[in-house]
Amino acid sequence: MKNVVLLGPPGAGKGTIAARVAQKAGLLHLSTGDLLRDEVARGTELGKRVQGIMARGELVPDELVLALVRERADGRRGVLLDGFPRTLAQAEGLAQFLPLDAVVYLAVGKDEVVRRLGSRRVCSSCGAVYNLLTQPPKESGRCDRCGGALVQRPDDAPEVVARRYEVYERDSRPLVDHYRRLGLLRTVDAARDPEAVAADVLKVLGS
Ligand code: AP5
Repeated sequence: MKNVVLLGPPGAGKGTIAARVAQKAGLLHLSTGDLLRDEVARGTELGKRVQGIMARGELVPDELVLALVRERADGRRGVLLDGFPRTLAQAEGLAQFLPLDAVVYLAVGKDEVVRRLGSRRVCSSCGAVYNLLTQPPKESGRCDRCGGALVQRPDDAPEVVARRYEVYERDSRPLVDHYRRLGLLRTVDAARDPEAVAADVLKVLGS
């Protein structure tokens, strides 16, 4: 069982691809974005602390995210990390408790991710992800899986997407070189349909 990081800009398809790959490869999918949104939805102390940060498209402090991941992944095998690490400090913290076998970089350009995020909709009930252009629901505004209402994530507003991309360029893109230097980086062209991208990721992982 491998420990794997999925790296890429906002909207690269990390969540979409992780869901497909984790199921097929038998990995535990850990998305820090989903974990944090769950804290916000439940109104926990952590949720109250991070809500404003997320709404502005900034990063939650490293120590809070590291604690969330460590609680779930410490010493495990077979973890697929989505949206984490996002800073060099997080990468260094992660290395203290989880050895990585591969880091898969989903490469896709800015215009494409901006287009994807502008047309993303998520189920307000089960969290399933859709795209009005590329993965529309069968019935407009309703989740195929549970019938829940589809909504836009607050941080998918155009001005927040622009900020998230800047933050990615400044804090997260340096991880590409970091993991390349460590010999762990595998790059997959993510500007193709999700099935092709997921198949390539599984190939890279030898699954
Ligand atoms: P997070 O939820 O991790 O946001 P993100 O990294 O910006 O990634 P997204 O969820 O927006 O996109 P994705 O790459 O998963 O794409 P998706 O599959 O949905 O984080 C949110 C916030 O939480 C952060 O801003 C920060 O505040 C905080 N946070 C989280 N982790 C943190 C950390 N480690 N440290 C500090 N703060 C943290 O796809 C996007 C759309 O495109 C969908 O509509 C989908 O249907 C469509 N799509 C996907 N793949 C394809 C494809 N191949 N072709 C066409 N359409 C596609």
